[in-house]
Amino acid sequence: GKDGYRHYMEKELHEHPVVIGQTLQRLIDPATRRVMMPDLPFDLASLPRAVVTACGSAFYAGLVGRYWLEAVAGLPVDIDVASELRYRDPPLTAGGLGLLISQSGETADTLAALRGMRARGQHILSVLNVEQSTMARESDVVLGTVAGPEISVASTKAFTAQLSVLACLTIAIGRARGTLSEAREQELVTELLDLPSRANEVFDQGQAIREMAAVVAQARDVLYLGRGSSFPVAMEGALKLKEVSYIHAEAYAAGEMKHGPISLIDNTVPIVATLPSGRLFEKTLSNLQEARARGGRLLVFTDTKGAPRLRDLAEIVVALPTVSEFTAPVLQTIPVQMLAYEVALLKGTDVDQPRNLAKSVTVE
Ligand code: M6R
Repeated sequence: GKDGYRHYMEKELHEHPVVIGQTLQRLIDPATRRVMMPDLPFDLASLPRAVVTACGSAFYAGLVGRYWLEAVAGLPVDIDVASELRYRDPPLTAGGLGLLISQSGETADTLAALRGMRARGQHILSVLNVEQSTMARESDVVLGTVAGPEISVASTKAFTAQLSVLACLTIAIGRARGTLSEAREQELVTELLDLPSRANEVFDQGQAIREMAAVVAQARDVLYLGRGSSFPVAMEGALKLKEVSYIHAEAYAAGEMKHGPISLIDNTVPIVATLPSGRLFEKTLSNLQEARARGGRLLVFTDTKGAPRLRDLAEIVVALPTVSEFTAPVLQTIPVQMLAYEVALLKGTDVDQPRNLAKSVTVE
């Protein structure tokens, strides 16, 4: 049941901290604070590259994974949505990694992409929530997201669980490839293990998120912005808003704004920005100043470190706990999903079962 929550989506949003913790627990040895992988039928050290594919939210998790795999593990990554990848003919070197991500393990396009990669000699590693699924049976290795059943059609907790697995996989590959020192691994693991408590603190921001929702609910179009690993978080926010509130939303890499979408900006198109402190903070901040100068209403998710710089610029600022750049996208996902939920409540839509959508898309 819904355990007293109004919708499964609300219940599942509140499960983020527990799900992140459970998922990490499977992959991190608490005594040594080191990532442990199951026995693999291939060697992580000798992978030439990875091809990552998935659909919808799972694809956005994969995009965050790409930033990690490239920057932390030094692994070349190609990524595409499964419906495109399955009909592309990318030249693949045998012995590469085919990395699939799916909550259900039954998504038709992702399954077809898996089969295509297997036929081209890729090692198949799937990040799955349903461990008894078609994709699980056809994979060389399954890494489980320990999210429990996800009932709401809009995916929430599965996403942070997927990120938790991808973060651990990145560490394991980085160690195998020698791009990650033991000391750095320990730092990253410590940052990951800190996430469940930090995720709990996100719920303290409910009031500010509801204020944002009141603005967004009035809009016809909403622009989501982010850079680096926050860009896929913006995409996830935009998708979730579309799914459950039926408001048009579009996510843009903040630096691309001036190459087109800036012409949309006026005071009727709210801008939801995800902007944690770190390397890309100043760059994104100047993009937001450009938007503000054109009358844009800024609704910003940042952290306690970034918040003081935004108070005069943004209409509403949500300051999350400050965490590392590595783990920030995991934490920042929670409030963008919460925002979509709050807007859906204001709109009175069928939150758990939005029109035209199915939980698992088993046809092409
Ligand atoms: O079961 P899967 O993870 O393979 O599903 C992929 C997408 O269909 C799914 O993430 C969809 O985009 C959700 N409705 C997003 O909230």
